[in-house]
Amino acid sequence: MPDLERNWMYRMVRRSRMARHVIRDIGFALDMQLLAAYKEPEELALIRRVKKESDIYLTAGEAYMVYSLARAQSRLPGEMVEVGVYRGGSSKLICEAKGDTPLHLFDTFEGLPETHPYDRGFFQRGLFPGSLEAVQNYLSAYPNVIFHPGLFPQTAEGLEDRRFSFVHLDVDIYASMKAGLEFFYPRLVEGGIILVHDYQYPGVRRAFDEVFAENGHTIIPLNSSQCIVRGPCAS
Ligand SMILES: C[S@@+](CC[C@H](N)C(=O)[O-])C[C@H]1O[C@@H](n2cnc3c(N)ncnc32)[C@H](O)[C@@H]1O
Repeated sequence: MPDLERNWMYRMVRRSRMARHVIRDIGFALDMQLLAAYKEPEELALIRRVKKESDIYLTAGEAYMVYSLARAQSRLPGEMVEVGVYRGGSSKLICEAKGDTPLHLFDTFEGLPETHPYDRGFFQRGLFPGSLEAVQNYLSAYPNVIFHPGLFPQTAEGLEDRRFSFVHLDVDIYASMKAGLEFFYPRLVEGGIILVHDYQYPGVRRAFDEVFAENGHTIIPLNSSQCIVRGPCAS
């Protein structure tokens, strides 16, 4: 587990809102420069536009992963999901990649719910408040986008028989991550994946430890805050 307390960037980001914005914006700009060496101009333009429109809470490289994986997974049967929408930035990247595949979007749209002691010091209730109506407008051009406002996992009631090719969990905190992994992991299609953000945080790690206590799963940490959980293989 990363020692976040000893990381100067984390210490600055936690102390000052201004530092948080400056570090995020500089990081995003540098990441875009790196991406520009490898990726298509249209993909870069999309990521730049989404950052400007939505205050997306991902680095440019992480945003690219969301787009790229959603595009690859759109060839599989199964629906798509994002839990943790905020202002719809990462949802828009999925929308651009998914074609006609149904996309289920879950958020309180009132910010983070109550946190657990595992999350304290990093996240508080009410962080990342959004607006359901604003996100609905932002994504209104895309087909098959289904909103589930309110507290997940209660808002997933009725979806028990669905199967999913791509799930993006960007929920920051222990209880939400645990609920997301528990609900979606057994419902992945063959070849389906879960892309997780915030894998460095103690609450999220704790959720992983509890859900995947026994063997038989594959977690692929990426060189960012993200990891990929590969769905159970067919026996
Ligand atoms: C960091 S933000 C998501 C950022 C967004 N994916 C982006 O790229 O801009 C985390 C979001 O998770 C939502 N969230 C966390 N736990 C939740 C839960 N149990 N039910 C519904 N929404 C939840 C919060 O409301 C918040 O909007």
